[in-house]
Amino acid sequence: MQLQVLQESIFDSKADVLVLPVIKGAKNLPLKELDSYFNGELERLIARQKFEGEVGSSFSIPALGHLKAGSVLLIGLGERSEFSLDTYRRFGALAVKRARESKAQRVAIGWSQLPASEIGNREQAQAFAEGALLAGYQFQTYRGRVKPKREAIETITCLVEGSATVAAAVERGLLEGRTLAEATILARDLVNTPSGDMTPLKLAEAAKSVAGRNIKIKILDKREMTKLGMGGALGVAQGSIHEPVGVHLIYKPSNSKSKNKSLKIKRVAIVGKAVTFDSGGLSIKPADGMMTMKIDMGGAATTIGLFKALSALDLQVEVHGIFLAVENMPSGSAYRPGDVLKIMNGMTVEVLNTDAEGRITLADALAYAVKQKPDAIIDLATLTGACVTALGEEVAGLFANDRRLADRLLEAARQAGEDVWELPLHKPYKELIKSKIADLKNVGPRGGSAITAALFLEPFTGGVPWAHIDIAGPVYTEKETRPDMPYGGTGFGVRLLARYLQGL
Ligand code: BES
Ligand code: ZN
Ligand code: ZN
Repeated sequence: MQLQVLQESIFDSKADVLVLPVIKGAKNLPLKELDSYFNGELERLIARQKFEGEVGSSFSIPALGHLKAGSVLLIGLGERSEFSLDTYRRFGALAVKRARESKAQRVAIGWSQLPASEIGNREQAQAFAEGALLAGYQFQTYRGRVKPKREAIETITCLVEGSATVAAAVERGLLEGRTLAEATILARDLVNTPSGDMTPLKLAEAAKSVAGRNIKIKILDKREMTKLGMGGALGVAQGSIHEPVGVHLIYKPSNSKSKNKSLKIKRVAIVGKAVTFDSGGLSIKPADGMMTMKIDMGGAATTIGLFKALSALDLQVEVHGIFLAVENMPSGSAYRPGDVLKIMNGMTVEVLNTDAEGRITLADALAYAVKQKPDAIIDLATLTGACVTALGEEVAGLFANDRRLADRLLEAARQAGEDVWELPLHKPYKELIKSKIADLKNVGPRGGSAITAALFLEPFTGGVPWAHIDIAGPVYTEKETRPDMPYGGTGFGVRLLARYLQGL
């Protein structure tokens, strides 16, 4: 889908669909002028349909030759006072969704019909492009004889009347939005790919595909992982026919400007959970719980997606992306309840439930991250069902041992339109994961298990400011509650992390 800017009047557009934003309770439509083309019928029609510009509402009118465009699509943006970046994301997403339903190929957007706002044109256009491109996403790789639905829109043209400065800002924003959307789409594709094809090695190869000029990659095979003492990840992996693979991506800023000497945060490590399939192992999951467990590498997928965007974002911080890819399977060689595993930092873990495998692999990944001497560590993990119970499908849980880091992430999440809610690292619950025979056990009681999972991770973070984002809910959607998130992997976290890093 092409995104472009054209300095043209909406009345001259020959697009299949001309999209106009409608603000609730405001007369932002050039209604009188439009109506003169429709012999005064338009305003009456809109009133009769009670279309008032509510968020998420839309109204389509065929132009029937009154305009050069094929039809007019009105998209409700809600009330002015409630505008945020997400307003523009949803605008782009709904425009694409509706235009596609009407089989349009060329879509024009009345950009100058958007009201003036504190949010600049560039930011608006970035959000709009994210929404448009992400709403257009379809995962069709696995269609066989059923023909994929490809109602593809060819071009979206933002019509800017007058100002060349505005046109340039919109153009810039569209490009930035595309960068982030394409990175998010890569993460979606990786999550959507069935585990039979998305093995630990394949996941590592996907990471290789984003390496390049500013991004180096180090792959750790089983031998190297053994040498490093990653007994946790190796233990989880030992039941699978697929060997574990470690991935370490390194982004270095191209021209370290002298001013970043003053930066407090110069190096950030992003750690992703990378369980390519989570059967539960010997503590096997019931069939229903296993059905979606190809998504259990979502943290790593987000990490890879983020790195795809990194060079284009031209950041001034060094970023390390780390994941240990494993498959959690039951077999004669699988790790057992009762086994004790030794993590890279020397700590020992008594395994009481082989389905609480994510925290064990993350323990090694975090300990490895600490060795890179980062100023902050952020891990993303589809860690607990409890977090989904608490916050549902749309909201991720945030745990952090550093106030500043947590606040920055919450703000980045707000701007990215990815919902995150902070949960407590409640210290007294540490008692619940003490083992009688090892340093830690990998499960506590049912109550508060998103918290005990987070508390389990902390000892492996070596005193570095650290945040853990449990994305078990939003990594995947079946309900399609947002127009920019079609069924399947969402790529949650890519834009949040990009925002966070840009803000440093
Ligand atoms: N991968 C799952 C968590 C999960 C559940 C992700 C649902 C996405 C959707 C994780 O490895 C797991 O199995 N966690 C258990 C832990 C329990 C055994 C302590 C859980 O949350 O039930
Ligand atoms: Zn599990
Ligand atoms: Zn898991």
